[in-house]
Amino acid sequence: MGLMETEETNKFTFEAFAAHPFYTDVNHLLVRQALAQLSSRPVDDPVTIVDMACGTGAVTRLVAQEMAQQGRPVHLIGVDPSAEALRRAQKSMESMPIKAEFIQGDADDLPNIVHDVDIAFFCNAIHLVPDKRSAFKQMASILVPGGIFACNSAFYEGTYVEGTERFYHLWTRRAVGWLRKEHPEVRLSREAKAMAMQWLTPAEYIDSLKQTGFDKVETTSQNVLISLDAWRDLGQYWLFIEGALPGVPLAFGASALEKAVYQAGQELGLTEVARTWLQIIAIKA
Ligand SMILES: C[S@@+](CC[C@H](N)C(=O)[O-])C[C@H]1O[C@@H](n2cnc3c(N)ncnc32)[C@H](O)[C@@H]1O
Repeated sequence: MGLMETEETNKFTFEAFAAHPFYTDVNHLLVRQALAQLSSRPVDDPVTIVDMACGTGAVTRLVAQEMAQQGRPVHLIGVDPSAEALRRAQKSMESMPIKAEFIQGDADDLPNIVHDVDIAFFCNAIHLVPDKRSAFKQMASILVPGGIFACNSAFYEGTYVEGTERFYHLWTRRAVGWLRKEHPEVRLSREAKAMAMQWLTPAEYIDSLKQTGFDKVETTSQNVLISLDAWRDLGQYWLFIEGALPGVPLAFGASALEKAVYQAGQELGLTEVARTWLQIIAIKA
């Protein structure tokens, strides 16, 4: 398991960021696009859907809502390496019209968990996976022929809207400056950073998918506006803190990112920052 969960990391969750409406909208688009592929099937035909890297369940809930609306019977399974995220996902599903099963694991565990899957999601997590090709192979292995793989990310080569790079640079610089001043004993580690930044181009994603068992691959880009408050919330998520300020204790990193995001926004006269989401729909050969 690549994730090193502790009591400390459990305090810095993804939930606040995932609650922002733009985040729901961009994921909803992908969910609807993927589920539209079911339209030719009889409505009482049971469907198996996997939400890989489901985290705290933002996408699982969208899938449940859509399937309930379509009135289709579904076996819905959320998988994630984080036990804490799964606990939160489970809790958030209690009020949903459709039940889901949550299982701890990563992409390598999938073939032992489920097979004959009609649709598999892998949302906002593929950039965290070092070996994407291997993950795609596992996704293909659990899908039925003609099955749908739906994946998205806002951490890829091309995600920055022109002119916005300076915001990220300044945010990081101000966060490091705040740390130096408030916690001069804290050191950033360099090696960790290279690992966290596995950004592919859309063309590389398409190639990888075509080499791992998918024949039709469609990508679209979605522009979204992300408020400083939403960036602050992302800066309270442990995996983001580790990527942005590797080696820094999470509580210090979270404070630094919070202070710095508003400072950077003020200096640049911004209250929101545009960003592009990559949305991928691939069909298993
Ligand atoms: C930003 S959250 C996304 C959650 C949800 N899919 C969504 O779209 O809102 C990223 C998730 O990826 C999971 N993750 C991290 N590394 C992973 C890996 N190597 N394989 C599978 N999942 C991973 C984390 O535990 C986390 O729940």
